[in-house]
Amino acid sequence: MSIRTICCIGAGYVGGPTMSVIAQKNPSIKVIVVDMNQARIDAWNNEDLSMLPIYEPGLAEVVNEARNRNLFFSTDVDGAINEAEMIFISVNTPTKTYGAGKGMAADLQYVELCARQIAKVSKSDKIVVEKSTLPVKTAEAIKDILENTSTGVKFDILSNPEFLAEGTAIKDLETPDRVLIGGDQTETGLKAIAALVNIYTAWVPEDQIITTNLWSSELSKLTANAFLAQRVSSINALTELCESTGANIDDVAKAIGTDSRIGPKFLKASVGFGGSCFQKDILNLVYICKSLGLNQAADYWEQVVIMNNHQRNRFAHQIVKSLHGTVAAKKIGFLGWAFKKDTNDTRESAAIYVANHLLEDGANIHVYDPKVSEAKIKADLSYLWELNGVTDARIAQKLAQVFVHTDAQDALKDSHAIAILTEWDEFKSYDWNNIYENMYKPAFVFDGRNILDSMLLLSLIHI
Ligand code: NAD
Ligand code: UGA
Repeated sequence: MSIRTICCIGAGYVGGPTMSVIAQKNPSIKVIVVDMNQARIDAWNNEDLSMLPIYEPGLAEVVNEARNRNLFFSTDVDGAINEAEMIFISVNTPTKTYGAGKGMAADLQYVELCARQIAKVSKSDKIVVEKSTLPVKTAEAIKDILENTSTGVKFDILSNPEFLAEGTAIKDLETPDRVLIGGDQTETGLKAIAALVNIYTAWVPEDQIITTNLWSSELSKLTANAFLAQRVSSINALTELCESTGANIDDVAKAIGTDSRIGPKFLKASVGFGGSCFQKDILNLVYICKSLGLNQAADYWEQVVIMNNHQRNRFAHQIVKSLHGTVAAKKIGFLGWAFKKDTNDTRESAAIYVANHLLEDGANIHVYDPKVSEAKIKADLSYLWELNGVTDARIAQKLAQVFVHTDAQDALKDSHAIAILTEWDEFKSYDWNNIYENMYKPAFVFDGRNILDSMLLLSLIHI
């Protein structure tokens, strides 16, 4: 099957950048990215490229090249499904907040809605590609819906999980370590795999494209995220031990990372991993293991999340403890809110949890993040409190303790302590002597990202 038109349902952090690169590299294929969120689609279509809904280095240039040539953003989901031979499902799959599996299982309602819509609208055969991260065996459910609700149309299902990381999405898409495609090992399944391989070979060497059956592909995505997060929790699990013994965590990471069997990546100690996927995907893995009665495997992986929660709480406790047991009415400057540098994404950011803890203790939080808006910061906190059943009156009270600044120096001036929550490069080049001069004494800096030179800090202030 030769693909002339692609539809991608979901114009988010994955659908937007992924389809932009596919369109850029395949100028002869029409790529339509659809979403039910009108504001998001309007932002993708904004002539001012600084207004794209997602901040990613290099993204604006790719969009600029392909948009309105062979890349289109639209809310006409039905029209795009109908026109395309290949449909990517790239919608959100958050942790369930209700019902069976609440707090653990992936919420597949958006994926199911897509399957039903594809089945209802399609008038010709389609290849349906799972781009969202899904529990192993989801393709079976999608197939079931498609086959039982469509009218004589034939569907092939592929799994093509995305491995990009935010902040480096364009680089990861342009030079991926590998592309993974799973499909049925039948004649038509193999043809569908070949059609997708053909799209990627426009820029990815064929030997970097791994093809498997559906289940191996689905499970490999959850496994990859579990392994990456496990490394972060493993190094974080040693930070307390370093603090108690005088060892330096960066030195330990360097020493073990030079062992080629261990490798240097994902060994940066931090206030805890965030992002929309690590926690959700591990909890999903834990849920699947539990559902199958694999309790030891479930407990093993759950520990990665438990350790991460501990690291976030420990950081917040340390701030209160160092500030003589109370932060009530004290100004705490927050540098960073995004879950990592070079993104405006704040989902599951450690900053949210640390702020929550300090606000509960009465602190005034003054935040500066180069890419995150005041509205987003307040919405993140409100969402957490609403989930925990906090009353509207109490939410309003707590929000009155949150101040968001567009100038970092305003967030830090006259503060009792500073907490670094995101590793934005610009924080390293600040005039820390000057910042120290303008803080209450004794002044404290809690470097949740280990980005500042510890010798400089030691000579200036308490850490
Ligand atoms: P997102 O929330 O940014 O985007 C999802 C989009 O889908 C939203 O804009 C939403 O409006 C839209 N949508 C939902 N249901 C729809 C429907 N029925 N019709 C039309 N539009 C619909 O999510 P994301 O971060 O792009 O993640 C998408 C998937 O990719 C998730 O499964 C995630 O686990 C996976 N993933 C994410 C990343 C990442 O870096 N964010 C990386 C790899 C994989
Ligand atoms: C992660 C994976 O790296 C991607 O391969 C995957 O596609 C994606 O999840 C997904 O499925 O959503 P992402 O969450 O965007 O990507 O970013 P990472 O670079 O993995 O960072 C995740 C979190 O771990 C961040 O909060 C980061 O600061 C933290 N981290 C990472 C550390 O604390 N230390 C490290 O050494 C590395």
